[in-house]
Amino acid sequence: MSATPSRQSKPGRGPVIAVDGPAASGKGTIAAALAVHFGLPHMDTGLLYRSVALTLWRWGGDPGNPFEAVRACSEMGISPEDPELRSEAVSRIASAISAYPVVRAALLDRQREFAALPGGAVLDGRDIGTVIAPGADLKLFVTAAPEVRARRRLKELEGRGMNATLAEVLADIKARDARDVERSAAPLDQAGDAIVLDTSAMDREAAIAEAIRIAGEKLGRP
Ligand code: CDP
Repeated sequence: MSATPSRQSKPGRGPVIAVDGPAASGKGTIAAALAVHFGLPHMDTGLLYRSVALTLWRWGGDPGNPFEAVRACSEMGISPEDPELRSEAVSRIASAISAYPVVRAALLDRQREFAALPGGAVLDGRDIGTVIAPGADLKLFVTAAPEVRARRRLKELEGRGMNATLAEVLADIKARDARDVERSAAPLDQAGDAIVLDTSAMDREAAIAEAIRIAGEKLGRP
């Protein structure tokens, strides 16, 4: 049993679900499906970092300069539907600027406010269970082998008409994993009370079904 009191124990509050994991692990898909299943709002926190990255890129700003990146945090005007948010260029800039403590600090309040919504919420990212919502009712750490994640990401890129090789995508995923894990500010880390969901041998539907089963059991809701 965890020693951390569950937020849900406060009467009248909805559950908070934290979903963390590395690139292309399936955490976003799982978080979105959990949100629909339990009727909760969902925040993809990676999109925040991507929006900062795209804002900076459109300005022609320097991703190597934390102060230019932090200025982009207060001047983001990107639609969540903007296709450029998912481009490889933006992924790389997002990975770089997310290592800056000043950028993480600038994005903290809006994530914590979302996690504190009275009806509950689902958030996915890298530091949800450790930093943003350490008292979450359920923490899932979604992972998969790097080769499996690279194949998924390649399929996704090809589906968007982009060209890349498996070797390139795998190298990129490994580089981002290393940056996420090794950075000193809120590194990608499994919370001590997180439940690990390894989706290496699961397709999309199986991973969603397993996440819903785990959540139902943990939250006491079917
Ligand atoms: O799933 P994928 O890694 O492709 O992307 P994402 O979840 O949209 O995250 C984009 C970038 O933002 C990642 O490279 C992470 O380094 C960073 N990120 C973060 O540092 N903290 C979060 N809570 C979410 C994303």
